[in-house]
Amino acid sequence: MAAAPAPSISDLTAAPQSPYNRAFFLKGTPLVADKRYSCIGLYNPKSPENVGSVMRAAGCYGVASVFYTGKRYERAADFVTDTKRVHYDIPLIGIDDLKKILPLNCVPVAVELVEGARPLPEYTHPDRALYIFGPEDGSLDKEIRDWCEDVVYIPTTGCMNLAATVNVVLYDRMAKGLNTRSGPKFR
Ligand SMILES: C[S@@+](CC[C@H](N)C(=O)[O-])C[C@H]1O[C@@H](n2cnc3c(N)ncnc32)[C@H](O)[C@@H]1O
Repeated sequence: MAAAPAPSISDLTAAPQSPYNRAFFLKGTPLVADKRYSCIGLYNPKSPENVGSVMRAAGCYGVASVFYTGKRYERAADFVTDTKRVHYDIPLIGIDDLKKILPLNCVPVAVELVEGARPLPEYTHPDRALYIFGPEDGSLDKEIRDWCEDVVYIPTTGCMNLAATVNVVLYDRMAKGLNTRSGPKFR
């Protein structure tokens, strides 16, 4: 049987997406680079429960992709908390070095409870951001913090759980809506 003809590009409709987070393509919008998106980088995460919860958050807030370094996560058991199987929709990619995967024109932002960091409530998010989080049993070291353009913290009493922190940062980005650095002009 002959294969069905492929649809022409003009017939393709955009997937419905929230204007608050990643790139969104309204019908008829040409695909250009001036869009917003967010990615997540996990530095040597330990527990599959946390990575699963991060994937769940990634799905909820429309994150483009999630990267992680280290071998600890891979050695651990299968996903436990990614009950929505978000990792089938959003790429979860193991890499050697977060510095090597920074997309073009994307701003690396370290998220760490550390002296000199900027408070998240007052922070204007980059249009395109790679948010980097430390491991459950450590912190982001100075080298990666120095490499990042910004370092932000959430003013909590003591540090939060890793996946909880990811949820808070992504919620903050969503709540600030189109007020990323370039403002609503990207609409
Ligand atoms: C569970 S915390 C790390 C544990 C912590 N360094 C300690 O005292 O043992 C895991 C990661 O979550 C993020 N994190 C947790 N609470 C935070 C906060 N209040 N502000 C910014 N980042 C936070 C950081 O990226 C941190 O490296």
